[in-house]
Amino acid sequence: MEPLQHIIDTYRHRKSRSYALIERMLRTYLRPYLWLLGLSVLANVVVAGTTSALPWFIQQAIDKVFGDQNTAMLLFIPAGVVAISVVRGAATYGSNVIMGFVGQRTTSNLQRDLFAHLVRGDLARITKQHSGEYISIFMNDATRLRDTVNTTIINIVRHLLTVVALTIFMYVMNVQMALIYTMIVIPLGVVFMRRLGRVTRKASRQGLEEIGGLSTLISETLGGLRIVKAYGQEADQITRAGSTIDTLLNYTMRSVRARAAASPAIEMLAGIAIGVIIFYGGYQSTQGNLTAGEFMGFISALLMAYQPLRAVANLQTILQEGVSAGERIFTVLDASDEIIDMTDAPSLDIQHGAISFENVTFGYAGRDTPALDGISLEVPAGQTVALVGASGSGKSTLLNLTLRFFDIDTGNITIDGQNIRDVSLDSLRAATALVTQEPFLFDDTIAKNIAFGKVDATRADIEQAARNAAAHEFICALPQGYETHVGEGGIRLSGGQKQRLAIARAILKDAPILLLDEATSALDTVSEAQVQKALEKLLEGRTALIIAHRLSTVMHADRIYVLEQGRLRETGTHGDLLAADGLYAELYRTQFQESQD
Ligand SMILES: Nc1ncnc2c1ncn2[C@@H]1O[C@H](COP(=O)(O)OP(=O)(O)O)[C@@H](O)[C@H]1O
Ligand SMILES: [Mg+2]
Repeated sequence: MEPLQHIIDTYRHRKSRSYALIERMLRTYLRPYLWLLGLSVLANVVVAGTTSALPWFIQQAIDKVFGDQNTAMLLFIPAGVVAISVVRGAATYGSNVIMGFVGQRTTSNLQRDLFAHLVRGDLARITKQHSGEYISIFMNDATRLRDTVNTTIINIVRHLLTVVALTIFMYVMNVQMALIYTMIVIPLGVVFMRRLGRVTRKASRQGLEEIGGLSTLISETLGGLRIVKAYGQEADQITRAGSTIDTLLNYTMRSVRARAAASPAIEMLAGIAIGVIIFYGGYQSTQGNLTAGEFMGFISALLMAYQPLRAVANLQTILQEGVSAGERIFTVLDASDEIIDMTDAPSLDIQHGAISFENVTFGYAGRDTPALDGISLEVPAGQTVALVGASGSGKSTLLNLTLRFFDIDTGNITIDGQNIRDVSLDSLRAATALVTQEPFLFDDTIAKNIAFGKVDATRADIEQAARNAAAHEFICALPQGYETHVGEGGIRLSGGQKQRLAIARAILKDAPILLLDEATSALDTVSEAQVQKALEKLLEGRTALIIAHRLSTVMHADRIYVLEQGRLRETGTHGDLLAADGLYAELYRTQFQESQD
């Protein structure tokens, strides 16, 4: 019994992964459709039952019609065969439609969850993987899983039920012959299928990873096409894509071979079984233990079991592809976020919008030195505070932390005395308007881009915001004005134009706290002067933390903090700091001098 125990053990062990996944799908995504699934299984019980009725009709036909010359049966049998074929067809159709529906619905629910999980996810978590890989998981893996739910699972159920029903019929016909059949086909079949399934699952997972790599490469190459061309790297990129595609082909072929082996393996086993049974059945018949009808009925059942057995073998390998896709999807879905609301987190209650950093230290994951080290600063309500420092000194990080894009390691950040960790993220972000260093535009119209944070804005509001950001004129000069599409990432606009749209977006949001990250860095002097005026108006009565690139911005600040390598070096007004003749004075002489005129 050792080998059998071994088979059972390996079966249990291998079972765990595919069945764990199916079980999870059942518990979560398939739950609302359980009754439909039940209906579908019921339809397949009908399919299996009607299928196994066929060999019974054959047995009856041979024994009663050909043997006993029974004329009543001559009419009954053909009518019965037609009737069960119709019922069988209807049941198959019904269960296919049901499963198609369930498959589509569950996949779209899964995709919806996946998208929400990505959009709500921590920046730290999401940025660990390339966007191309997410796109690939979203499209390829989800599609593969859908096909599994749609067709594979239910077909396996159907064919297994059919095999079971036919096997029961065989036992009813003749126990010894049925035993022979079972002993030959089932244990060896299971061993074969498990082995092939494992190969497929592994190859399929590797294949999906390669597709992710390919998708990353495509999005990167297209995004950086100008650089690729300018540096003459077309051939190199093509070679890289070629080798990824080759690897992908390699893995795909591994699955294809495993799948191709599935049917012949079962065919071989079934062939052996048929041979042995013809011999044994013939012998029994010569002994008078078996009628011709019984023998023919048995052989028909055997032949009919052959196709579903082959299909189960085949589907089992396809199922493994769905399993590896599902596992990849759930790995993404299971990644937990750290930046989440506390339970029942209250909304941020803004009275004046004073921001305070108390001894804040923060380091990015994977970096040895902290990006910010023991920072304490105050942005009094309604005032403008400027951050100054060499690039890499931690200015942008400080803004990121104010919005709680990352959680700090030690210290406290409060707004109007409320720790930002204790209030809801929605309310925190609703209270702040951010203009990032690289303004980001969506591939949509200019109007939609400006109104991004405020869907209910009227056209008049949008135009007013654009005017205040000195953007109205250039927008009107565009072919479709406010309805012009800006292209992927705003590629059809200049850097300064993008920046002004980003500022207009912040103006329209009309939030009590403003965070500007070198918002005017890409502007020429003329538009900068215009935007500067707009910003001054915007800054009035608001609390603002701005990263200053131009001297004009710095000079207007109520207070300046000077950062160096994540530490605060100096603070004071422009006049104070110049008088102190420290780091600021040095920066002033090198960095700001050219924009002084
Ligand atoms: N997402 C990130 N992951 C890891 N390190 C980062 C990340 N963003 C910035 N850094 C590092 O943190 C430091 C401060 O960066 P940053 O705040 O962008 O500087 P600044 O805006 O003053 O130029 C730099 O050393 C930078 O390399
Ligand atoms: Mg920066």
